[in-house]
Amino acid sequence: MAATPIAVVTGASSGIGAATARTLAADGFRVVLTARRKDRIEALAAELNEAGHQATAYALDVTDRAAVDEFATAFRSLAVLVNNAGGALGADPVATGDPADWRQMYETNVIGTLNVTQALLPALTASGDGTIVILSSTAALSSYEGGGGYVAAKHGEHVLAETLRLEIVGTPVRVIEVAPGMVRTEEFATTRFRGDTEKAAKVYAGVDAPLTAEDVADTIGWAVTRPSHVNIDLLVVRPRAQASNTKVHRTL
Ligand SMILES: NC(=O)c1ccc[n+]([C@@H]2O[C@H](COP(=O)([O-])OP(=O)(O)OC[C@H]3O[C@@H](n4cnc5c(N)ncnc54)[C@H](OP(=O)(O)O)[C@@H]3O)[C@@H](O)[C@H]2O)c1
Repeated sequence: MAATPIAVVTGASSGIGAATARTLAADGFRVVLTARRKDRIEALAAELNEAGHQATAYALDVTDRAAVDEFATAFRSLAVLVNNAGGALGADPVATGDPADWRQMYETNVIGTLNVTQALLPALTASGDGTIVILSSTAALSSYEGGGGYVAAKHGEHVLAETLRLEIVGTPVRVIEVAPGMVRTEEFATTRFRGDTEKAAKVYAGVDAPLTAEDVADTIGWAVTRPSHVNIDLLVVRPRAQASNTKVHRTL
């Protein structure tokens, strides 16, 4: 009997990562949930196992290269890696943005993705049919005022995905970039505004149906389960009420 294919999801403790873990588990993958908050990924793994799926939790900070390398030793063969851990910090203009925020966003979104991808690429290749998903953003494709550091980091992730795809062509690994627009998740905007829930709520104010974490997870699940020879290079997904990063219909 063939072994159950394994999918690693980073940032699986909330939002899109948690929803993606649920989707991939339902699609028949044994999911390995990683994030820094161990209690949350352990609770989700327990919930999935109780529902008859296969899930394990592993506490991991994607910016800690030694820890990522140690984590990777557990895998000789890996079917799917979803690089989802990331996020935004602040919405200041370039003129006054805090370089520490820029550094942290680059570190988490770009170097975090680089660390995990480099460490797991041998196992993805060894599987004979590996898939790497990179969760960038529409911020990876065009800019918006106040987006500076996040836009720069997400452009970095986009370039990482494009370059890697060029470099590993001919190997049995595909690289899928999923770039969502506005997604209302529990923590994304609250983290960006450092716990200011009022400011966070304004991001979605008057928007009829922003995307949900489940919408994005559904998109990832679809892309990952296409036949092996089909590579969804870049998938941009936005809510109907959002035509661009700056053109959002609000009923206020
Ligand atoms: N929400 C949106 O509008 C939107 C739109 C486009 C793209 N995205 C992207 O989609 C991804 C998920 O966003 P989300 O909305 O689901 O945000 P979220 O709910 O804030 O989730 C972020 C996840 O990343 C993890 N994380 C952050 N830093 C980490 C680190 N150093 N090491 C390991 N894990 C880390 C967090 O877990 P711990 O804190 O437990 O480590 C959490 O699970 C991000 O890359 C984000 O940039 C979001």
